[in-house]
Amino acid sequence: MPIDEITQKVSDRYAKAASTGEQMCCPTSYDMGHLKTFIPEEVLNISYGCGTPAGLKTVQGGETVLDIGSGGGIDCFEASRLVGPTGHVIGIDMTDTMLEIARKNAARVAANLGYPASNVEFHKGLADAMPVDDGTIDLVISNCVINLAPDKRKVFQEMYRVAKPGGRFTISDIVSDHTVPQYLVHDTRKWGDCLSGALTLTDYINGMTAAGFLGIHLIKFSPWRVIDGIHFFSVTLTGYKLPPVPTTSSIRYATLRGPFSRVVDERGTTYQRGIPQPIIPEEVLLLNSPPFADHFLLTADPIALDNHDPRWTAVFPAQVPCTWQGHYALLAGPFIEAADDDHHIYRRGEPLEICSKTLVVLENEGYEPHFVVLNRAGDRVSGEAVTCSPNEGGCC
Ligand SMILES: C[S@@+](CC[C@H](N)C(=O)[O-])C[C@H]1O[C@@H](n2cnc3c(N)ncnc32)[C@H](O)[C@@H]1O
Repeated sequence: MPIDEITQKVSDRYAKAASTGEQMCCPTSYDMGHLKTFIPEEVLNISYGCGTPAGLKTVQGGETVLDIGSGGGIDCFEASRLVGPTGHVIGIDMTDTMLEIARKNAARVAANLGYPASNVEFHKGLADAMPVDDGTIDLVISNCVINLAPDKRKVFQEMYRVAKPGGRFTISDIVSDHTVPQYLVHDTRKWGDCLSGALTLTDYINGMTAAGFLGIHLIKFSPWRVIDGIHFFSVTLTGYKLPPVPTTSSIRYATLRGPFSRVVDERGTTYQRGIPQPIIPEEVLLLNSPPFADHFLLTADPIALDNHDPRWTAVFPAQVPCTWQGHYALLAGPFIEAADDDHHIYRRGEPLEICSKTLVVLENEGYEPHFVVLNRAGDRVSGEAVTCSPNEGGCC
């Protein structure tokens, strides 16, 4: 399908959904009771996201937030509340009907929040050519939109262009565990359902990295659909556009505390647990950020750790029989490669089959946030059940 045709069909689909108030089932987990206290029903009824990028404690007071594919404005309005009256929110969407509903409700939301004027503006634009100035955004969010864009590489480049140095993104989107085959790519209905245009998790993260973002890691994951053996799941990822490197920092070494026995970062630097690794100032910036900071000891002088040190962490598998039940683990950053204490080497985005005792290891808090675990036995969707918002139907 030509790019213009995809874009037009997606826009027509969402214009129709917005004008009819079509209900869809999406893997979000909004607290609708809370949102209803300040966001009009008309907006909540046309929430078609697959996560809650603004509601994950990622938005800070006074920030400028950009929402790509803002739809009826649900995440912009939640961001408006979180940035406070001194912050600023920009929503971009290509569909006029969506923009009309969002704009109409901006003043109402501001009044409900007790703001003197709305701090949200909505602009018409495409995700791959955004009407936003370079380096002006603290936080880029998006909710189930990038999968709908034909040229994702350009969208990732645009996100990097508009982010301030020191800025970051939090994006919810649908990804898959296998490349989506052409017969699905050319299915316009499934494209509009946020399935056909999905990238694999590996391609998604690689696209972000190629655009310049670093420290890309998972903050939420929900299994979604299985179609012809391809698992589609919703992920919320975050990552950084690093600020300029400070000229003065006393930190020169990083020692991996665990529980991984070895990791390789996005620059290709390898860290062995307990062994101090010399690092450059750029790595200091990154390793000081979540979720790295919990895994490393950052010091001016080299400090080695051994397994008697309370800062050393490890999770060993139980000495029990291991059964294969169809589980696969996908490392979802921030490392490109990581090893555990049972000879597994996980490579970012590549599903690795694991048995029951490894599944228990990966459920440990030191590992759990870094992995998507799927069950490929049969066609069942594994993991946490999807909460539909607001009612049953197709998604997005
Ligand atoms: C699945 S809906 C999600 C809307 C909103 N983020 C939410 O959570 O309710 C997708 C939205 O993205 C917009 N959209 C899709 N592709 C786009 C693109 N390439 N550029 C700009 N907007 C796009 C659609 O018009 C629609 O409003």
